[in-house]
Amino acid sequence: MKAGDIRLVSVTEANRALVKALELAPEQMDFVASNADSLREAKSDDDARPRVVMAGDRVVGFLMYEAPQDDDEARIYRFMIDRIWQGKGYGKAALREVLDEIRSLGHISHVSICYEPHNEAARRLYRAAGFVEQGLDEDGEMIADLTLPADDR
Ligand SMILES: CC(C)(COP(=O)(O)OP(=O)(O)OC[C@H]1O[C@@H](n2cnc3c(N)ncnc32)[C@H](O)[C@@H]1OP(=O)(O)O)[C@@H](O)C(=O)NCCC(=O)NCCS
Repeated sequence: MKAGDIRLVSVTEANRALVKALELAPEQMDFVASNADSLREAKSDDDARPRVVMAGDRVVGFLMYEAPQDDDEARIYRFMIDRIWQGKGYGKAALREVLDEIRSLGHISHVSICYEPHNEAARRLYRAAGFVEQGLDEDGEMIADLTLPADDR
């Protein structure tokens, strides 16, 4: 499966259990909330936009963002690729897809993301996409920000 075959789809009754079954390596578990928690949270938050990462017909990851209509900032606050599918370019492709999706909403000028400061994979992934580190928030998480190109808005 090539990273070019990565696409994002909605959560459905058909793929919900597969999203919950996605796993991280033990040392990654603190980096992101469980998908079960995120799906529960999404049900009660109208702004939450949960997306399933598909490689062809296979569920390989999950992410969630918000892009409130009255704001020019989107926030990606969940992002994971199943441990056995990591390191194949799927995370990079999924990030590209979600940024395209956010850009196409039309009202967003920048995107923020946060991660544990020692999460090197996340740091490199986001930096390569153009995110610039802003510093730590009050919880000690690194905030990074991406300004979307003006001509794409
Ligand atoms: C971060 C994560 C989503 C990356 O997904 P992935 O599919 O493995 O990433 P890719 O294969 O597309 O790699 C993209 C880039 O990430 C970086 N990267 C990925 N895995 C890495 C690792 N183990 N160590 C260092 N850098 C790594 C690299 O810069 C890589 O680009 P390169 O291959 O051109 O050098 C995945 O590791 C993950 O789910 N981690 C646990 C959850 C998490 O930390 N989420 C982010 C915080 S919310």
